[in-house]
Amino acid sequence: MNDPIRHQFPSLKRMVHGRPIVHFDGPAGTQVPQSVIDAIVNVYTHSNANSHGQFVTAHETDLLLNRCRTQVAALLGAEGPETISFGANMTTLNFSLANAIARTLQPGDEILITQLDHEANRGPWLNQRRHGIIVREVGLEEDGNIDYADLEKKISERTRVVAIGLASNIFGTVNEIDRVRQLAYEAGALLVVDAVHYVPHLLTDVQDIDCDFLLCSAYKFYGPHVGLLYSRPGALDSLNTDRLRVQTQRAPNRIETGTQNHAALAGVSAAVDFLASLGQGNTTREKIIDAMSIIQKHERGLAQKLYLGLRDLDGVEVYGPPLKEEHRAPTISFTIDNIRPDAVCKFLADHSICAWDGHFYAKRAVEVMDLMEVGGVTRMGIAVYNTEAEVDYAIATLQKLVAG
Ligand SMILES: Cc1ncc(COP(=O)(O)O)c(C=O)c1O
Repeated sequence: MNDPIRHQFPSLKRMVHGRPIVHFDGPAGTQVPQSVIDAIVNVYTHSNANSHGQFVTAHETDLLLNRCRTQVAALLGAEGPETISFGANMTTLNFSLANAIARTLQPGDEILITQLDHEANRGPWLNQRRHGIIVREVGLEEDGNIDYADLEKKISERTRVVAIGLASNIFGTVNEIDRVRQLAYEAGALLVVDAVHYVPHLLTDVQDIDCDFLLCSAYKFYGPHVGLLYSRPGALDSLNTDRLRVQTQRAPNRIETGTQNHAALAGVSAAVDFLASLGQGNTTREKIIDAMSIIQKHERGLAQKLYLGLRDLDGVEVYGPPLKEEHRAPTISFTIDNIRPDAVCKFLADHSICAWDGHFYAKRAVEVMDLMEVGGVTRMGIAVYNTEAEVDYAIATLQKLVAG
């Protein structure tokens, strides 16, 4: 399946140090297909206007916004376009959401976050402590899973919000969201899900998850930098968000401030079209369902190879749940004895391979695992355009590094 896909990504043709560049940096942002670039260029070339006007280009912007909400709703399995709001990025949207939800809380109310989560789903909630709200943190186990016993201990009728990721951007862990949903439901708490690292790799179904809010970010699934928020029908309308009196007061606009990035939103629709084009079906949702199972199979195969190849290298420790688990994101983090992650990534970069070192804002997890002092981990993420040859090349390159 790879060549017709790779062919669509102009940036993959780039040569670095005399070799085609290898992108294992997808968890920090994937490459973009030509169709996404064209959709963005088309807005500036032909129909650059604000929304809600009487003239042709303004009308086109209205259509573009509505189409983008419809496409993202199909990607997430949402009820309809009115459940999808836009923002600058996931972090900004989550701050707005957390501030709005906190206005419904009283001092002494509790919010539950986890040690595994990206700071984007911790910081906005930790901030609420200034209002006397108590924020509790669910622990992390050594195998990269959250401590469910700790979660059961810490959730109570005082818990008003459970904020949790679907997949970890550092260890690839996929959380048992059904179990969390049940506990949140019994406690009467809202469930806010960070799906930034999940949406590009596994089929997302917000109605099946039964969450109140879910956030993701288009630049992780082959689109431009736009944050996306799903709100359960009615959930956003009852929140006191930061907004202007002149704007539309209802969902999905209620949490959107100012003019949106229309060109980028055309790119988001094109990114969903790109994903849908990889599957078969009569509707966009059907195509997405098929496409995500193809993507999952492809990415899992490569991640498995990378995981096993790394594990066999001397002095390498790989983190996170084993790849044999059905639900795991294809993201592999590791350390090498006596070689700091920044040196590993520099060596890889010298061999035309892009990989990240550090904590990737999953800083609490790195602290808890005692990895801060060694510079965090090296992270390699598999995307739809990666190939077996690239994985083999990365393993061989790291073998050279380890052999000294
Ligand atoms: C799991 C996870 N959550 C949240 C974010 C933040 O997303 P954004 O950059 O859109 O604010 C990231 C970004 O790396 C992430 O990986």
